[in-house]
Amino acid sequence: MRITVKKFNDMHAHLREGEMLTYVVSEMIGYDHVLVMPNTRDPILEGGQARAYKAYIEKEQKSAPDTFCPLMTLQITEQTTPDMIYTAREVIIAGKVYPRGMTTNSGNGVLDYSKIYPALSAMEDIDMVLCLHGEKPGEFCLEREEQFLSIIREIMSTFPSLRIVLEHITTCAAVEYIKQAPANVAATITVHHLSLTLDDVIGAELRPHHFCKPVAKCYGDREALRNVVRSGHPRFFLGTDSAPHLRGKKECSHGCAGIFTAPSTPALICEFFQGDVEKINRFANEFGAAFYHLSPTKAHITLERWDGSPNNTPRVRMDGPVEIFTGNDDGILPWRIIHDE
Ligand code: DOR
Ligand code: ZN
Repeated sequence: MRITVKKFNDMHAHLREGEMLTYVVSEMIGYDHVLVMPNTRDPILEGGQARAYKAYIEKEQKSAPDTFCPLMTLQITEQTTPDMIYTAREVIIAGKVYPRGMTTNSGNGVLDYSKIYPALSAMEDIDMVLCLHGEKPGEFCLEREEQFLSIIREIMSTFPSLRIVLEHITTCAAVEYIKQAPANVAATITVHHLSLTLDDVIGAELRPHHFCKPVAKCYGDREALRNVVRSGHPRFFLGTDSAPHLRGKKECSHGCAGIFTAPSTPALICEFFQGDVEKINRFANEFGAAFYHLSPTKAHITLERWDGSPNNTPRVRMDGPVEIFTGNDDGILPWRIIHDE
């Protein structure tokens, strides 16, 4: 079986910097727009830094097998001023809020959400999207996302026309919350959260390459994510949260959170929708484009489903510096990208 789909819009990805960035862009095939997260080692806090980071990404893409359009973000901290938002508007399309200490490079994140209200007011004013990592600091890890819903509720009532994306949701509670929210509030969903539960992280053995934030939850939560994605709800769209870390930073006593999914997401999404082109296009391209007001995608990719023959098994690169998520131990993908158009 062969299908041709629009190139994907990934509305949440970590590209990193330095050698890791070079490697990551070399593994990204089949993307049109990619929303680039700002939690780099030196975080992206101002428009000038976002501009420099974008130029750096574009330079790396010159030697990559495929190119995408990087969409830049700024990290909103308790120190972000309205002026910083207005100045950055030419180069960024969204502001990202990390709760303090909840994930990679978030030591400068937010503890007191009222302190970012001046920045949020400026964002509402210029119709800039707010991306929220939805975990409440200080709560038990499995309850952080649900507890965060009171924070988003408060932000929504203070800034009723602010466009908000609750990122990489993992719970039934978040699905239900976003469903009943108004049209300016949406959520992203990752391939790994459609695939894993907490059992796949700690159920039998400790699986550091399945560890991410927010951590995968229970079977009912995964079912709620799968159902809402299958239902074709337009306010739930793809954001891979592809988050590479070197193997040594995962396989150790204080392992980093993050799963590297950018190379495998096109194949895994095609499998999730069993090759249904319209459904793939909607979830992985059109819904995100509509919410973020992106230009329509013209480029396509063609994928072929693996027929099971041992001679041409599609596999991710197994010997790279970062483990690539496939959902199995053999690095096998259900589909292969055969060419770009
Ligand atoms: O697992 C994660 N890794 N979740 C995040 O929110 C950040 C990411 C990273 O940057 O490594
Ligand atoms: Zn992320």
